[in-house]
Amino acid sequence: MIELRNLVVHYGRVAAVHDVSIAFGSGINCIIGSNGAGKSTIMRSISGLVRPTSGSILFEGEAIEGLTPKAIVERGIAHVPEGRHVFPELTVEENLKIGSYLRKDNAGIKRDYDSICSAFPRLAERRKQYANTLSGGEQQMLVIGRAIMAAPKLILMDEPSMGLSPVMVAKMAEVIRAVNSEGKSVLLVEQNANVALGLSDDAAVLEQGRISLRGKAADMKDDEHVRVAYIGI
Ligand SMILES: Nc1ncnc2c1ncn2[C@@H]1O[C@H](COP(=O)(O)OP(=O)(O)OP(=O)(O)O)[C@@H](O)[C@H]1O
Ligand SMILES: [Mg+2]
Repeated sequence: MIELRNLVVHYGRVAAVHDVSIAFGSGINCIIGSNGAGKSTIMRSISGLVRPTSGSILFEGEAIEGLTPKAIVERGIAHVPEGRHVFPELTVEENLKIGSYLRKDNAGIKRDYDSICSAFPRLAERRKQYANTLSGGEQQMLVIGRAIMAAPKLILMDEPSMGLSPVMVAKMAEVIRAVNSEGKSVLLVEQNANVALGLSDDAAVLEQGRISLRGKAADMKDDEHVRVAYIGI
C-alpha cells in the first residue's frame, strides 16, 4: 500500500533519512525508533510536508513524492502529527469539520461525524467547547477524529501514545484497531515499541535514519535487541 524506495531526506546539509527502502501492505504497521531516528521525517515526507532529497514514495503503486500536502490528502492519506496539534480556539466540532474540508459528499461527512461522536462520547459531550479546554488524551482523540473526517485510506499516526496515561494508551490502541476494522490502514511510528508492536502486523526498526530490522511485529517482540533497546526488558 505504501512504499519508500531509496528515500533520502536532508534538513539543510544534514541527512535525517538515509536510503530507506521499505514497503507495507494494508492493515496496521509500524516503524519504531528512538528519539531523533527520523520517524517524523518519514511521516512528513509521505504527507508532503517535507520534500525528499531523492528516492520515491509510492502509494497504491503511484509515485506521490513532490505532490502538495493537499493533493496527498486527496489521494487518501491523512496525517496525525506528533504533539496533538488541535486548533485551540476552535470548538471540538469545528476542529473535526476542518478534517473534511476537501470533501464534497455531505452525507458521508455527516455519517463520519456521527460515527466519531459515537466512538468518542467524550468529544461528543464537549463538541461546543474550545479544543484548548480538553485533556491531553481528549486532544489526541480529537486529532485522530479530525484525520478520520478526511475519509482517508491510510492514516499516518506519529507517536499517538506519547504522554498519555496507561489507561488512555489502552483506549488509543482500541481506537486504532477500530479505525482499521473499518477498512482504513494505519502506519504508526512510536518510541513506545511495546504498544506499537502489540497493534501491528509488520514492523521496522529505524536507527539513525536507516532501517536496521524488518519483520512481523509478533516476532520482533521476541528479538533480543528490540527487547533491550526499545521495550526495556
Ligand atoms: N526542521 C528541522 N530542521 C533541522 N533538523 C531537523 C528538523 N526536524 C528534525 N531534524 C533532525 O532530523 C533528525 C530526525 O528527526 P525526526 O524528528 O524525524 O526524529 P524522530 O524519530 O521523529 O524523533 P522523536 O522520537 O524525538 O520524535 C534529528 O536529528 C533531528 O534533529
Ligand atoms: Mg518524531
